[in-house]
Amino acid sequence: MQWKDEYSVGISEIDEQHKGIVELFTVIDAAIEARESWSEVFFKLEQLRDHARFHFAVEESLMRMHGYSKQVEHAGLHKHFLAKLDQLQMTTLSRQVTMNTINYLSKWYTEHMKTQDQDFIRDLIDKGKVNLTRLPAA
Ligand SMILES: [Fe+2]
Ligand SMILES: [Fe+2]
Repeated sequence: MQWKDEYSVGISEIDEQHKGIVELFTVIDAAIEARESWSEVFFKLEQLRDHARFHFAVEESLMRMHGYSKQVEHAGLHKHFLAKLDQLQMTTLSRQVTMNTINYLSKWYTEHMKTQDQDFIRDLIDKGKVNLTRLPAA
């Protein structure tokens, strides 16, 4: 999986977090392809989970702060991703994870950045809550 400019939401902090997650997907893809041991794959999925949880918390805080109308729906999608990731991690304990299962998550994530995340950040920008490159200083 590779970062593409079309994924950009227009706020550098969020883009950097998204890039970090895309990079982790790349590392996990390579681990699965190389048929690394279950513990290696499990560990890498755990790193993905840490990053995703942190990133989702940042997005959800921004939504709360700015009263984003689709906050509940968006947070529900984040939950779905984490639940699928949990399932995948459990799978590593009993059998080899296939590219198909990780592809589901990376495709989901790509679509999420290009649709719901862009929609949410555009809403923030439209309301004049943030400028295009940086969050306002506290
Ligand atoms: Fe999101
Ligand atoms: Fe996001």
